Amino acid sequence: MALTQCRKTTVVTTPETDAALFAKATSTDFTYYKNDTQVHASSSQSAYSGYFRVRFNAIALSALTDNGKLPAGGTFPQGSLIVKELHNDSSGTQLHGYAIMEKLSSDTSQADGWVWSEVNTAGTGYTIHNKGAICTGCHSVDDRDRVRLFDLFP
Ligand code: HEC
Repeated sequence: MALTQCRKTTVVTTPETDAALFAKATSTDFTYYKNDTQVHASSSQSAYSGYFRVRFNAIALSALTDNGKLPAGGTFPQGSLIVKELHNDSSGTQLHGYAIMEKLSSDTSQADGWVWSEVNTAGTGYTIHNKGAICTGCHSVDDRDRVRLFDLFP
């Protein structure tokens, strides 16, 4: 008689990979910032002078308790995933890539608690193994856990 075995369903979150992060960023259920699906022009403080909209996975969304924003001084929980869609214009149909932040404070690729990636729609670009070297400077200027749009787009 065969033994019935319990199957383990361990979710491996670290170490993160570019491919796994891209799959999550393009497939998980997300909610747009303030439920606003409009694409907006980037602020003058952005590296990218194009158009964007930002979405949060359910874990990140749970931390947005200050009128849809992370409270000042707050921190996002582990597993939070924030995706900035990069668009060519305001139509919402000209998506060309993604800038991605994933909260994984113990990951080998993390910097300031986040794993950082910026890729085109095929999933290639700025690898997580760069540890956000070109990202963290701009993203360290406020006290909302490295996320910029809460203060710039209140
Ligand atoms: C020159 C400054 C600058 C650099 C460099 C920069 N960002 Fe940003 N980022 C911004 C600003 C400002 C915003 C707010 C939205 C906007 O104005 O475009 C933003 C928004 C974001 C968002 C949406 C969440 C938030 O913070 O508002 C993500 C995700 C993001 N950036 C990821 C990255 C990644 C990954 C890199 C590095 C590859 C990077 N950024 C480099 C300035 C920068």
